[in-house]
Amino acid sequence: MTFAKITQVAHSVPKKVVSNDDLSKIMDTNDEWIYSRTGIKNRHISTGENTSDLAADVAQKLLTNASVSADSIDFIIVATITPDSLMPSTAARVQAKIGAINAFAYDLTAACSGFVFALSTAEKLLASGNYKRGIVIGAEVFSKIMDWSDRSTAVLFGDGAGGVLLENTGIQPLIIAEKLQTDGSRGDSLLSGLTDINTPFATVNYESKSLSMEGRAIFDFAVRDVPKNIKATLEEAQISSEEIDFYLLHQANSRILDKMAKKLGVERSKFLQNMQEYGNTSAASIPLLLSESVKNGIFTLDGKTKIVLTGFGGGLTWGTTIINL
Ligand code: ACO
Repeated sequence: MTFAKITQVAHSVPKKVVSNDDLSKIMDTNDEWIYSRTGIKNRHISTGENTSDLAADVAQKLLTNASVSADSIDFIIVATITPDSLMPSTAARVQAKIGAINAFAYDLTAACSGFVFALSTAEKLLASGNYKRGIVIGAEVFSKIMDWSDRSTAVLFGDGAGGVLLENTGIQPLIIAEKLQTDGSRGDSLLSGLTDINTPFATVNYESKSLSMEGRAIFDFAVRDVPKNIKATLEEAQISSEEIDFYLLHQANSRILDKMAKKLGVERSKFLQNMQEYGNTSAASIPLLLSESVKNGIFTLDGKTKIVLTGFGGGLTWGTTIINL
């Protein structure tokens, strides 16, 4: 039996930091409103770096830290909804940038659940026994798709990337239990990237192509559906919520994390948080938090830590994996 193991973590963010006060100079908002409703203080915003630049930086760090060669990588999956281009995929661009000539590569689109969905996929690829080593990255340059004239969404998001190196060297299952969900019937509450039809045969034009969000509906979705999903995954694993060392949830809003902790009866300090420095980075938020937590010595990759990873967002998509890290 082959078990996947996360052997390295890494992250990368654009250098430019934009504070709430900086935003208040370019739109009608203020630090008090943003911080009290979201827990966000700063975000990193691209000054030219594209999604594949951040993702390739993460991939290169993973290789360097593991002292493995690029040609030993079997696959690269990039979870993103802000690709440089639809074709080639961001993952294909990363493959070329790092010279992973033997890797197949593709993007996975599941918005803020993207990293959790991609990790689940990668674990199955390694369990098949056909592959030895893969890279999974969540990367977004969200600033590209934001409507900068809409203060209700423009203050929430940031750019960044995080990722993991997975190898088939585990001595225990990486994923203890998982539950991935989608409800496309509620998809319109988080929209971006609509494409027009303009052909000799038909014309369909959409008013807006940048991000739009029904904030209240998404908040309600996050605090109603997501804790149920976490509870169901814990039940499947026959693990109590207290046995989990840390909860790494999508970093959308600290008030959502407060409510989750309450609903699960878990002390709030187990819900790690870094959205104050990065904002909501969509598919990048969980691997960014994972990598930063290892860097800060909160936990190591010794296989002894039980972690809940939960994503939720556009699609609507949501899902949990409980992992041995
Ligand atoms: N600065 C100042 N005032 C603002 C701002 C701003 N940036 N944005 C909105 N307001 C105003 C509104 O105009 C409104 O004013 P009004 O009462 O005079 O009309 C008032 O603030 C309240 O607006 P609401 O939208 O009702 O504010 P709410 O308390 O619901 O908070 C928020 C908004 C923070 C977006 C909240 O709904 C939320 O967190 N939703 C969840 C979003 C989320 O988690 N998304 C992530 C998942 S999806 C993904 O990650 C891609």
